[in-house]
Amino acid sequence: MKKYMVVGGSTGIGLEITKMLAEKGHSVVVLSRSVGGLAVGGRLAHEPFDAMAAPPSFPKLDGPLDGLAYCPGSINLKPFHRLKPEEFEQDFALNVTGWVRVLQQYLPNLKKSPQASVVAFSTVAVAQGMTFHASVAASKGAVESLARSLAAEWAPGIRVNVVAPSLTDTPLAEKLLNTDAKRQNSAERHPLKRVGTPRDLAEAAVFLLEPTSSWMTGQVLHVDGGMSSVRAL
Ligand SMILES: NC(=O)c1ccc[n+]([C@@H]2O[C@H](COP(=O)([O-])OP(=O)(O)OC[C@H]3O[C@@H](n4cnc5c(N)ncnc54)[C@H](OP(=O)(O)O)[C@@H]3O)[C@@H](O)[C@H]2O)c1
Repeated sequence: MKKYMVVGGSTGIGLEITKMLAEKGHSVVVLSRSVGGLAVGGRLAHEPFDAMAAPPSFPKLDGPLDGLAYCPGSINLKPFHRLKPEEFEQDFALNVTGWVRVLQQYLPNLKKSPQASVVAFSTVAVAQGMTFHASVAASKGAVESLARSLAAEWAPGIRVNVVAPSLTDTPLAEKLLNTDAKRQNSAERHPLKRVGTPRDLAEAAVFLLEPTSSWMTGQVLHVDGGMSSVRAL
């Protein structure tokens, strides 16, 4: 049995990661503002945490941590001329600085594991230029390059990888999928003709967290229905 932390494990992809890890018999501590869909108890614990608090207050954690997934993120889509500089800063604070703070806080615990793994989330809009994605793409680009830097700095003891989703059916994407027409159009835009499920993304994240991926670090896994790499002619 290993010990994992899922920051943002109360809804969406993080909740699915948490459930999968617990089902595999691991112990999981979730940090988020609400309990959301979590069934806390047994091997599954929840600690209140706000990554945007200045500064956040961190729950104390003793002993080794074998893996950490950082799931908070934003989808703030606007034409560039309507994006205020403060919105870029907020997206960066949640996606990048929040992750930095969490890693600096729990690095001593990760170092105590013989082989720890860290996973964060990017977006398909980093590999592909997409209209209205300027702010989130700028932050998630930083997530990917930070992950590669840390993968270099922390090898061989701690692996660091990223999952880059396309549109996935979670509370974060609710506004983009709240009518049949939107859902259908979104599905059609993907070469694999559907949007992602939380499970699609959690499978990739859990693979990266567990020793099954023990020879991978500094990678970005594109789990995006073919969006970043395939074109129909
Ligand atoms: N869904 C998509 O279409 C999509 C596409 C591309 C990339 N992504 C990325 O995938 C990742 C997971 O997204 P998701 O769709 O699963 O999102 P989600 O359903 O909104 O879940 C986000 C999780 O993060 C937590 N969280 C949000 N703000 C927080 C804060 N300030 N402090 C602490 N926890 C916070 C939320 O819990 P509380 O509200 O309880 O705090 C929740 O558990 C994100 O990084 C997102 O950018 C998603």
